[in-house]
Amino acid sequence: MGAFRPVSVLLLLCFCYFCSCSVQSRRIVKHLPGYNGPLPFTLETGYVMVDEVNGGELFYYFIESEGNPSKDPLLLWLTGGSRCSALSGLIFEIGPLKIVKSPYNGSIPELEYHPYAWTKNASIIFLDSPLGAGFSYSSNPKGYEVGDTVASSQIHKFLMQWVVDHPHYLAHPFYVAGDSYAGKIVPFVAQLISEGIETGQQQLLNLKGYMVGNPSTGEMNDFNSRVPYAHGHGIISDQLFEITQKSCEREDYTNPSTAFCAEVLDVVEDLTLTVSRAHILEPHCILVSPATKDIIQNRRFLKDDYSIQLSKPEEPPFYCRSYSYYLSYFWANDNATREALGIKEQGTKKEWQRCTDLPYERDINSSIKYHHNLTSRGYRALVYSGDHDLLVPFLGTQAWVRSLNFPVMDAWRVWHVDGQTAGFTETYSNNLTFATIVNGGHTAPEYRPVECLAMFARWISYQPL
Ligand SMILES: *[C@@H]1O[C@H](CO)[C@@H](O)[C@H](O)[C@H]1NC(C)=O
Ligand SMILES: *[C@@H]1O[C@H](CO)[C@@H](O)[C@H](O)[C@H]1NC(C)=O
Ligand SMILES: *[C@@H]1O[C@H](CO)[C@@H](O)[C@H](O)[C@H]1NC(C)=O
Ligand SMILES: *[C@@H]1O[C@H](CO)[C@@H](O)[C@H](O)[C@H]1NC(C)=O
Ligand SMILES: *[C@@H]1O[C@H](CO)[C@@H](O)[C@H](O)[C@H]1NC(C)=O
Ligand SMILES: *[C@@H]1O[C@H](CO)[C@@H](O)[C@H](O)[C@H]1NC(C)=O
Repeated sequence: MGAFRPVSVLLLLCFCYFCSCSVQSRRIVKHLPGYNGPLPFTLETGYVMVDEVNGGELFYYFIESEGNPSKDPLLLWLTGGSRCSALSGLIFEIGPLKIVKSPYNGSIPELEYHPYAWTKNASIIFLDSPLGAGFSYSSNPKGYEVGDTVASSQIHKFLMQWVVDHPHYLAHPFYVAGDSYAGKIVPFVAQLISEGIETGQQQLLNLKGYMVGNPSTGEMNDFNSRVPYAHGHGIISDQLFEITQKSCEREDYTNPSTAFCAEVLDVVEDLTLTVSRAHILEPHCILVSPATKDIIQNRRFLKDDYSIQLSKPEEPPFYCRSYSYYLSYFWANDNATREALGIKEQGTKKEWQRCTDLPYERDINSSIKYHHNLTSRGYRALVYSGDHDLLVPFLGTQAWVRSLNFPVMDAWRVWHVDGQTAGFTETYSNNLTFATIVNGGHTAPEYRPVECLAMFARWISYQPL
């Protein structure tokens, strides 16, 4: 490769408000290393300062809608983790590019166009959040000491600045979206935006609602539902399931209070670890990210070691889905890529990783009250679940959606794509829709791109699934 040198326009814009002056940098990227020819869509990348004290800047990729960019909705996409890169959402889930899966031979991995991108029907900001995720960085490592609440207010701050730089998007219908761990952040960010709108203290984003996929809520049910899911899918026996029900009643399975329950859950854990938890029918492979240890249990937040290990990820077998994750490491760390994207020196001091294990404080215990509050006030919501995910099984999600106790408008039914069952769905009176995606994994669009684009396009344009 190397035949296509990135031709980028650097727009260095300086805005001064009141007494603070912030320098924003952004550029239009016309070519990307590994992609043959000019990009067939508009890509802008840039940084926004969200922590002046520590010099923390969030990095974003903005892709304009390939449909009707002057009218289509604007979406903010957050990838989970808690610290996975937005690039992961872009090239593996809902963006118009994907990594070509071929054995790594030392040259930059190739990219190809992905036709089932959600950018067909919306303009999307893919945000590397929190600081330390993807290309977002903090000059002072103290800036990485964030958790749910601080990261969410930084996302809000980012948005307020981003719309100052892109004022015509203020009129577009706006949605916050994300999956996995971001499912917990999305409703809180939407709540912050809605409060800002109510008090008139901010630029008036035209917030319409939000979407979450296989979302964490912070409630114990997210993980407790793994046990009935594993039972229903033949991973644990009837007997083991019954013992769990008896000995772990009302327990938080991630933190059981009795030794006997803990022992029983260890047996469950050993059995579930033999399958691919992100999609139980896929090959069982390594995930190519540093071990995501439970911060709450290990209290790693209290240590002050913030170095991000410079480590080439372990190479998975080629047949694994995660082989593409492995390739993304070489694409994103290539100097030509960094140059094309406009990655800053401070950003290049550390390596890009698909997900990093920097300490993170999970300080929102439950996002359910935000789901309730937002949907009660007329904001639309789509909660979807890939139904083969054992990490946040649809069973737990369906249960909390039901527990919000809104009247059912459109009762549980099948939804179709190309005449086939794509999933099942139920809509509540307050514009809240729950949907499953048959044969979808933890990040559903990654596994069922055609179906998930159909679901997204219908929902975002107010059609029933
Ligand atoms: C989504 O966008 C495509 C073109 O980008 C368009 O053909 C299609 O009608 C849109 N879908 C909906 C449901 O609006
Ligand atoms: C390395 O792999 C790429 C595809 O990723 C291919 O285009 C290139 O020709 C290969 N180079 C060599 C030296 O084999
Ligand atoms: C990539 O850039 C870094 C920082 O500018 C430099 O130290 C390194 O030598 C470069 N690597 C290659 C392969 O050019
Ligand atoms: C959240 O959880 C922590 C630890 O489990 C607990 O100390 C705290 O009181 C909880 N906060 C709320 C608001 O429930
Ligand atoms: C929702 O949140 C707003 C703003 O925080 C608050 O004023 C309102 O009382 C809440 N509404 C409900 C129904 O909980
Ligand atoms: C549902 O959404 C529609 C369109 O945005 C809105 O007019 C209606 O008030 C919402 N319904 C509820 C119960 O909030």
